[in-house]
Amino acid sequence: MNQLDFFKKFNRLNPLELSLTILGFLVLTLCLFCSMFYFDNSIGNGGNGLRSRAAVTWWYGYNLSSNGEFGFVEKSSEKDCDYFDGKWVWDESYPLYNSKDCLFVDGGFKCSENGRPDNFYTKWRWQPNKCNIPRFDAKLMLENLRNKRLAFVGDSIGRNQWESLMCMLSSVVSNKSSIYEVHGNPITKHMGALVFMFRDYNCTIEYYRAPFLVVQGRPPAGSPPNVRYTLKVDKLDWSSGKWKDADVLILNAGHWWTYDKTIRSGCYFEEENTVKMNMTVETAFRRSIDTLFGWIDSQVDINKTSVFFRSYAPVHFSGGDWKTGGTCHLETMPDLTTPYKPQYWGHYNILNDALSDYVNRSHATKVNLLNVTYMTLQRRDGHSSLYYLGPKPAPIHRQDCSHWCLPGVPDTWNELLYAVFLKQQLLRSKNSTVEAEAS
Ligand SMILES: *[C@@H]1O[C@H](CO)[C@@H](O)[C@H](O)[C@H]1NC(C)=O
Ligand SMILES: *[C@@H]1O[C@H](CO)[C@@H](O)[C@H](O)[C@H]1NC(C)=O
Ligand SMILES: *[C@@H]1O[C@H](CO)[C@@H](O)[C@H](O)[C@H]1NC(C)=O
Ligand SMILES: *[C@@H]1O[C@H](CO)[C@@H](O)[C@H](O)[C@H]1NC(C)=O
Ligand SMILES: *[C@@H]1O[C@H](CO)[C@@H](O)[C@H](O)[C@H]1NC(C)=O
Ligand SMILES: *[C@@H]1O[C@H](CO)[C@@H](O)[C@H](O)[C@H]1NC(C)=O
Ligand SMILES: *[C@@H]1O[C@H](CO)[C@@H](O)[C@H](O)[C@H]1NC(C)=O
Ligand SMILES: *[C@@H]1O[C@H](CO)[C@@H](O)[C@H](O)[C@H]1NC(C)=O
Repeated sequence: MNQLDFFKKFNRLNPLELSLTILGFLVLTLCLFCSMFYFDNSIGNGGNGLRSRAAVTWWYGYNLSSNGEFGFVEKSSEKDCDYFDGKWVWDESYPLYNSKDCLFVDGGFKCSENGRPDNFYTKWRWQPNKCNIPRFDAKLMLENLRNKRLAFVGDSIGRNQWESLMCMLSSVVSNKSSIYEVHGNPITKHMGALVFMFRDYNCTIEYYRAPFLVVQGRPPAGSPPNVRYTLKVDKLDWSSGKWKDADVLILNAGHWWTYDKTIRSGCYFEEENTVKMNMTVETAFRRSIDTLFGWIDSQVDINKTSVFFRSYAPVHFSGGDWKTGGTCHLETMPDLTTPYKPQYWGHYNILNDALSDYVNRSHATKVNLLNVTYMTLQRRDGHSSLYYLGPKPAPIHRQDCSHWCLPGVPDTWNELLYAVFLKQQLLRSKNSTVEAEAS
């Protein structure tokens, strides 16, 4: 029956048949409508249902007008919503990109190309308990970064997150050669700084390696012979001059602040040009964070720069650590219960203490915390494990349970960065409108 036949038949129906048809149609519509709510509730009530959330409710609470302007409808309950308090839910519409389409990612993070058999770890979305976060819109993010610089500073987990953002943003740029490293450096295994320009937006997405955030260098003359290096906990990394003017700054540290990577390797701590032989790693980490916050106060123009600190991303070695054969390659599902306290939990507490002292001191939150530690703790399934080497899996006792497969967990950190950043942009533009109206 083609369309014309259908309409002919429809016209031939007598008035009673016609009203019955319409009634039937209405009932069917109502059923569909109700079932949508039913599905949504069954997920909202904490079921780990492997069903994607109805798209209709996805934007609830947000107002995205057709010109791409981003608006938070400020429901009182959402104003102070904690994005980091939530849960992981299965979402078939994820991941946000495929690693084979992303030219800006180290081979080491391309787990699927390196032979990882499952892709479940790419299918989890973070759902805050009291509100929604907007779905990542790369074009909108790039528009908001026009003529701006965004810089990641920290260790290789920070680099992991930087590459994730490169993939998320570049997925909407059709001419990939319009994205390039300004000094022509390749992305693979390059150690220092990398600055990628998105030509059509005149925006750069940058990475600076500074695993301690403070200066690492030679010890002062006359130091004991077992002191091979020192970390100058009162001086910010030499590269800081290059990133202090960025418009968005995302800092992280932690994975290198361990006994193994400092004192055991002959790297002691230095303050006021004196080696502090007795200073513990924890004290030194705390001093370095204080130094960072002091530096932000005195050196960073907070009206221009949005500063984020990403909290510690837990590792998931079991049966050993990174150098004693710890593993994670059998994990294919998150641990959605309350997981165990991880190794180096102290880093999280030190950062929190430093942050609350700082907020107390300066009476303003100049540093946004990307509080990812808890949510990431549940994601034992997201690590590169055996799949960081290339086509052949790594030996079973040489696993990487620190870094993350891409696409994967760092994408979620960036979705949260996106939500907080755009909300701030909105507040700023509101403020400037108010100022303009006042003057
Ligand atoms: C959404 O935004 C448009 C354009 O800014 C506005 O006209 C409309 O009233 C908004 N809707 C809600 C529910 O706030
Ligand atoms: C970080 O998030 C966790 C989980 O929601 C919460 O318990 C903790 O208080 C948060 N920390 C800070 C400093 O906001
Ligand atoms: C590009 O952005 C930089 C800031 O990152 C700005 O100084 C420069 O004027 C911009 N160039 C153009 C052509 O808009
Ligand atoms: C893509 O970008 C490159 C580098 O900027 C440029 O030379 C080339 O003409 C662009 N191609 C298209 C189809 O726009
Ligand atoms: C460092 O520790 C040693 C041995 O525990 C102690 O003798 C010394 O006084 C300590 N130095 C400082 C500056 O605390
Ligand atoms: C930041 O902006 C506020 C309000 O516009 C202004 O009072 C303050 O002096 C500015 N601070 C800096 C460092 O420019
Ligand atoms: C903040 O400062 C007040 C007054 O100086 C003090 O009583 C309070 O304990 C401080 N809070 C924290 C978290 O340090
Ligand atoms: C906007 O203005 C309000 C009140 O003047 C201020 O408290 C707030 O910090 C400002 N927000 C931004 C992002 O500048």
